[in-house]
Amino acid sequence: MDKKDILLPQHVAIIMDGNGRWAKQRGLKRTEGHKVGAEVFRTISKYCADIGIKYVTFYAFSTENWKRSKAEVTAIMNLLRRYLDEMKERVLENEEAGIHISFIGSREGMPKDIVKLMDEVECRSSDKTKTYVNLAVNYGGRAEIVKSVKEIAERVKKGEINPEDIDEDMISDGIYTANQPDPDLIIRPSGEYRLSNFLLWQSAYAELYIDDVLWPDYTPEDLDRAIEEYSKRNRRFGGV
Ligand code: IPE
Ligand code: IPE
Ligand code: MG
Repeated sequence: MDKKDILLPQHVAIIMDGNGRWAKQRGLKRTEGHKVGAEVFRTISKYCADIGIKYVTFYAFSTENWKRSKAEVTAIMNLLRRYLDEMKERVLENEEAGIHISFIGSREGMPKDIVKLMDEVECRSSDKTKTYVNLAVNYGGRAEIVKSVKEIAERVKKGEINPEDIDEDMISDGIYTANQPDPDLIIRPSGEYRLSNFLLWQSAYAELYIDDVLWPDYTPEDLDRAIEEYSKRNRRFGGV
């Protein structure tokens, strides 16, 4: 990408969708799509670090995705387990392009060994500062807002704050992306025009970009196109 004249978003968020359809088109099992999708995640997160995007959030598994067949959920968890295990080593060998990785979403209900791997990957990459990657696993935008509100209610109950003190910053401080800028650009491959419970609070003024490409086919050139289009948008934030 010719980066001159391009305004880079500070925070890009991507809904990694279309793995199942990609597999179906090829007469493969849905799991095969998830497998290729995981590789694409690696390529795109590295590319984001290369071109200087500071924050990237990837939606990998939603709080609603547990509704899928047991076989598919198990296959996704197995893939995640294997991927994290590899990532743990790559981070140590500095092969992750200076990426600081965090997992957003609820750890409750996740297999314990996967939670342990997540902690290890987070811990091992915690000194990296080139690009901050959030991987959303067992993530739901509504659940995240409820979590933040519950924490605030506890503080009210203890008498630390009054209900009148509650403001937007307080809610922002209690969500998983606290201290990070809101996403500037949300990309959804696979042609669906919805957020599917992704970053509901944070997306208030995000620019949306829908792409027909299915996630396993997604390339750095597709991301370039989205960023180029983003750089032409006129963001008004309610002003004129
Ligand atoms: C996204 O791809 C991966 C997850 C939600 C885990 P899908 O599995 O939703 O793929 P489609 O939408 O069925 O094609
Ligand atoms: C959103 O995709 C979740 C992820 C990509 C992880 P879904 O495939 O679950 O969304 P819907 O069901 O099409 O809205
Ligand atoms: Mg889908």
